[in-house]
Amino acid sequence: MIRTKIANALRIAADACRPYQYTYVGGTSQAHDAFVLLRKWAAGESLGDGRYIGQYEDALARYHRVRYAVSFGAGRMALYAILRAMDLRPDDEIILPGYTCIVTANAIRFAGLKPVYVDVSRDDFNIDLGRIAAAITQKTRAILAQHTFGVPCDLDELAAVSRRYGIPIIEDGAHAIGARWAGRPVGGFGLAAFFSTEGSKMFSTERGGYALTDDAALHERLRAIQQEAEFFPPRQELYCLWRWCYRAALCGYPLLQPRTRTFELLAKRLSLAGVMRVLTFDAANYACEINCRRFTPYPARLGNLMAYAGLRQLLRIERDLRHRRRLAAHLEGALGAMGVAVAKYDHTKALPSWVRFPFVVRRREPWIRLLNTFRITPGFWLNDPVHPVESDWEGAGYAAGSCPEGEYLSGHILNVPVHGRIPRALLEKWVARARALYLE
Ligand SMILES: Cc1ncc(COP(=O)(O)O)c(C=O)c1O
Repeated sequence: MIRTKIANALRIAADACRPYQYTYVGGTSQAHDAFVLLRKWAAGESLGDGRYIGQYEDALARYHRVRYAVSFGAGRMALYAILRAMDLRPDDEIILPGYTCIVTANAIRFAGLKPVYVDVSRDDFNIDLGRIAAAITQKTRAILAQHTFGVPCDLDELAAVSRRYGIPIIEDGAHAIGARWAGRPVGGFGLAAFFSTEGSKMFSTERGGYALTDDAALHERLRAIQQEAEFFPPRQELYCLWRWCYRAALCGYPLLQPRTRTFELLAKRLSLAGVMRVLTFDAANYACEINCRRFTPYPARLGNLMAYAGLRQLLRIERDLRHRRRLAAHLEGALGAMGVAVAKYDHTKALPSWVRFPFVVRRREPWIRLLNTFRITPGFWLNDPVHPVESDWEGAGYAAGSCPEGEYLSGHILNVPVHGRIPRALLEKWVARARALYLE
């Protein structure tokens, strides 16, 4: 009875939000989506297994123009599942860029394999194609093509390397949902691909990811791994749902930024110890990852209601991408004209997704100060060859000095948000001010 009343109240709230457009992007507002999600939960829709998982996977496969998509509780887990499904031998080697996230290296280690780092190019922040051959050995089983910040790797060149050595490509599209190469969405260019839908990515299921492939046998094994995996505990799923709704309704607006931060600090202070244990499972998982330890459940499955959240956002991704590309085109021109290094890529083939817009500066501090005055949140990832800076390099198999370009970028790169809540006028004013101050 009370549940029905809550569900009705949430439906009224969702309807009230419907006319409001998603800022600068168009389509229904995310606040509307948040109330729809809460209403479904109040009406008894499952947080664990359920009908939306299959619908979401079908929609993902269609969007990426591949045959199969299999969802997981994180992008890293999708990579882990792909590697397990490839049936490799212990200590087989996987090539990856020396400018990545430690979670990628950990997924390789957890699958019993060895990460082999290849330095990146300062031009597009992606793996340096010219250095791959020297890293290939008898034991190399795959090359990870990470489309850093959503700028696609040169997939023609990579396909040539893959053919020459008979080594398959696995695309790391964590930053690159919607990026295209030669008119086709990335994710269908290798044996398999994995993507992330964690909160800071192209769209969010709070945490989550998926694997793609056209290979029927690989898909069968991936599906078996998914079916054997557990869902996250219900209280964690519930927290994810709450946080997704809170972020969808309130986060990312430059004007709300200081207030939102104060709210978060306040929420942390006021929480009781027990509540904190529930809320901070992320912190515990993070501590495991930076020390190269596995947490449980790993791999995990993506839950039903978060799959529904993904499904809703997939409907507006193309509009969202257009907004990102408009802002990025302005930044490419304006920052480039000031002599600030921005990604160089083949404009006739690559169409980036711009999870955030990266640029490389001489000194970061003055840029950060200026960004803060405009209430634009500066991004500090990737600020380590195996991000984040606290990572255990030894555990991740990374040798200091082995990827000098990746190490240089880690200390000099910054990025700014270009998502649907960032107005172009704000970025224009910020760049104009940076020019007036002769920042470089
Ligand atoms: C380049 C890259 N690959 C893979 C991942 C893993 O994604 P997830 O956090 O969903 O496991 C990340 C995470 O941010 C990433 O930045």
